[in-house]
Amino acid sequence: MIDRMVIGEVPAKHHVALRDDRGGLRYEECFTRSGFDGPYTILYHRERPHAQEPAELASGWRLPVAVAPRPLRKRHYRTQDLAPAGGPPVAARVPLLFNADVVLSLATPAKPDPVYFQNGDGDDLYFVAEGGGLLRTALGDLRFGREDYLFVPKGLLHRFAPDPGPQRWLSVECLGGMGLPHPWRNGSGQLRMDAPLCHRDFRRPTFVGPQDEGIREILVKRSGAFHGFRQKTPPLDVVGWDGSVWPFALPILSFQPRVGQVHLPPTVHGTFAAAGALVCSFVPRPLDFHPQAIPCPYPHSSVDVDEVIFYQRGEFTSRRGIGAGSLSHHPAGVMHGPHPGAYESSIGAKETNELAVMLDCYRPLSATAGAAAIEDAAYQSSFG
Ligand SMILES: [Fe+2]
Repeated sequence: MIDRMVIGEVPAKHHVALRDDRGGLRYEECFTRSGFDGPYTILYHRERPHAQEPAELASGWRLPVAVAPRPLRKRHYRTQDLAPAGGPPVAARVPLLFNADVVLSLATPAKPDPVYFQNGDGDDLYFVAEGGGLLRTALGDLRFGREDYLFVPKGLLHRFAPDPGPQRWLSVECLGGMGLPHPWRNGSGQLRMDAPLCHRDFRRPTFVGPQDEGIREILVKRSGAFHGFRQKTPPLDVVGWDGSVWPFALPILSFQPRVGQVHLPPTVHGTFAAAGALVCSFVPRPLDFHPQAIPCPYPHSSVDVDEVIFYQRGEFTSRRGIGAGSLSHHPAGVMHGPHPGAYESSIGAKETNELAVMLDCYRPLSATAGAAAIEDAAYQSSFG
């Protein structure tokens, strides 16, 4: 929901007849959020888009199940040790941490989706740690690559065709929806000139017109279960669309970081705001410039949030034993901060080359058995 786009063939006004060259009527699909109160897109189909029959299809990914309650600890999960699940993206997510608002998973697909997918449970945000490919949707095609965020709106019909080679995508399923932080918008909805992102940073779908890939099967996730349908006509039969709900890619390095005289809180790195979570981008940047500034994050008790960081690359000055692919989880209720020595030695540092994605989550996160299997058991005691 960045701004409005109009692509392909649309009539002069919504809810009026659009006809093909032979007088055949197109069919509207009003794709709406928050009932009819939120952002929307109107698609124009060649055929009735809702003519479907239930179908028995292979299920999607394994849904998250919490491990038995465990002691409160700072945790470190090494996603770099997770064996690739393979298979198509619709089946390749391994859930790691979750609550009622978000599900964090690692997706390691190896082949294209054989069906279309609609996530009726939430928006999907991915951070592509490795790999890339093509996202094909009813609204057009979108290529994505390493270190892109990729956003797929709730309910949008799509499938992935990953490129050959290793794929590692951090997946954040946002069950209450996701958008940009409100402070980055002005009163007209435009991104402010002092926002860390601008409209041109977002890569938009390329409209390719109606196409028939021979696929009629649609897998729908709703209420935590997968359901199959078979459509009678090609689902990608859209001739045009108009609206504000569309998928996008955003290179994380397009985020313009802010730097202060002294350390600024993570909110200045806010990139996406989900219901119950803030997603922040830590990108390479100069550090704080007061002569006595302590650039290393201070020990803190952020008593209302569970903090998760996915480390992509660079030197992580505040933590030892962390590498590319590490996922740290610092739960509310226990103070956290830098490893011994990091706080003191950061004074005078001029820049950082860290690249990481952080989530502040407002409800406690549970771990899955998949996460427990790749846990670094020594992490809690590494703080001294
Ligand atoms: Fe923190």
